Amino acid sequence: MVLSRSMLAAAPSNVLVPSSHGQLHAIDELQTGLLTHPAYIDPKYLYDTLGSSLFTAITQLPEYYPTRCEAEILDEYAVDIAEHVGNVSALVDLGAGDCAKAEKLLPSLLPERYIPIDISVEYLHNAVQRIQHAYKDLKVLPLGQDFHHALTLPDSIPLPGRLFFYPGSSIGNLTPERALALLTQIRDSCPEGGLLIGVDRIKSRHTLEQAYDDALHLTAAFNLNLLRHVNQRLGSDFEVSDWQHVAHYDEPHARVQMHLQAQSDIQIHWPGAHRDFREGERIHTENSYKYTPDGFRSLLTRAGFSRIEHWSDTRGWFSVFSARA
Ligand code: TRP
Repeated sequence: MVLSRSMLAAAPSNVLVPSSHGQLHAIDELQTGLLTHPAYIDPKYLYDTLGSSLFTAITQLPEYYPTRCEAEILDEYAVDIAEHVGNVSALVDLGAGDCAKAEKLLPSLLPERYIPIDISVEYLHNAVQRIQHAYKDLKVLPLGQDFHHALTLPDSIPLPGRLFFYPGSSIGNLTPERALALLTQIRDSCPEGGLLIGVDRIKSRHTLEQAYDDALHLTAAFNLNLLRHVNQRLGSDFEVSDWQHVAHYDEPHARVQMHLQAQSDIQIHWPGAHRDFREGERIHTENSYKYTPDGFRSLLTRAGFSRIEHWSDTRGWFSVFSARA
């Protein structure tokens, strides 16, 4: 498995990385998705180093409102949020990326420990250096982990006062059933703590589709970059220029669906298999489910959380929930 070895070698030494089992799992997972009809690729593969940088650029686009709405809420209600979450011994940042969102919370929450978790370890490494420099007394423990697969925290992190932070409406990238399973797992990992989570809300088709198909085509680049990442992981021969980014709001399911569409008839090869795609055939890459505040509150309740509070931006486009175990 030459590809797996190179992936592990890219990981900075002070970041805990998953075992090589994770890399084997990746190859199986990618292959299964590509051989299924219709084909799919798990959205976590969007976030290699370039993908993470492209996503950070997306968050600065005028069309991509979620990041700004969430920042507005976290700034405006910092005091109320800190009061609701209570004492925080460890801030566990799920999908930390550039750690910018958690950094906003550090001055009001004052955790003892900060545990950023991200699948893109190289990207995480740079962000962690910046945080550690700014907060010398903070114990920073970065984890290179796919927490959708298994959420395991080291025993050194005390149970009381664990606050899971899951911003950016990434929960919307899971089906409601899988979202419930993850929320339940989080709930079970913080029996004496809580969860602070950002959730995107149902709104007009126009606003939603623009957010996922911007005029600068950064979102297209982000989605297409997935194919380069898959080539690296799987040894496949996708040509990025053969594919087109498509984003569509599926109103009955309250989700934006992202696809990559073949521009012509294409055969894709990788070690041990191949797949034919006809012109116009699509690979499903991401769902982004949107919620009403009541809908998300009931999901949190079903996951076992009890004290639930939420805050919104002035337009009511986005919500931040605090849920205590
Ligand atoms: N979590 C982000 C969201 O659902 C991810 C995202 C934004 C995304 N734009 C995208 C995923 C485009 C795939 C394609 O908003």
